[in-house]
Amino acid sequence: MPVEITRGAVDDIDALEPLWVAVHHAHQAAMPELAPYVDDAETWREHRPLYESLFEQPDTFLFLARIDGELVGYALGCVAPAAEGWAADTWRVGDQIGELESLSVLPGYRGDGIGSALLDLVEDEFAKLGVDDVVIGALPGNIGAIKLYEARGFKPTWIYLSRFAARKDGG
Ligand SMILES: CC(C)(COP(=O)(O)OP(=O)(O)OC[C@H]1O[C@@H](n2cnc3c(N)ncnc32)[C@H](O)[C@@H]1OP(=O)(O)O)[C@@H](O)C(=O)NCCC(=O)NCCS
Repeated sequence: MPVEITRGAVDDIDALEPLWVAVHHAHQAAMPELAPYVDDAETWREHRPLYESLFEQPDTFLFLARIDGELVGYALGCVAPAAEGWAADTWRVGDQIGELESLSVLPGYRGDGIGSALLDLVEDEFAKLGVDDVVIGALPGNIGAIKLYEARGFKPTWIYLSRFAARKDGG
């Protein structure tokens, strides 16, 4: 089945829930040692407002991948002033930084190039917006996704460490 990729908008946010939950599942599978994780309902309840706020920004964009009408993947990107982010006080960057906020392909459709096709469009879009500096957040254990990004020239750049009280080992 051919993949159809179209632009999405704020009205498509609700349709993204299962695809975001698939990212949450990938995170848990990649780093089970960081449990406990929030449940599927809570991850979307916490994440959805971020998408709503991003669509209030001018350069936010969304690409939707469908096969036979079924939504199977998406990529959401946004642009923010570099001065508001974490890179400008350390690295030489332009005035604006792009971020690939989310990339997801449903499990049954991975490995067929849909993620790469979405990334191609994301890169074109940042280029059209004149954004030369782009960041992507990833769990350090999400080796597959990191490999995909590294193949496009992205390099591990910044890492958060966490010690969350809810963890059984206290760390
Ligand atoms: C990351 C993701 C979007 C890639 O989509 P995809 O359609 O499978 O990607 P493609 O088929 O275009 O490319 C696959 C490439 O991704 C990498 N990759 C992605 N997941 C991988 C995995 N679990 N194991 C190994 N490589 C993986 C490989 O580099 C692979 O390249 P190869 O086929 O040459 O080996 C998809 O795996 C996904 O949705 N994962 C769960 C959510 C996620 O982790 N999102 C990114 C959060 S930062």
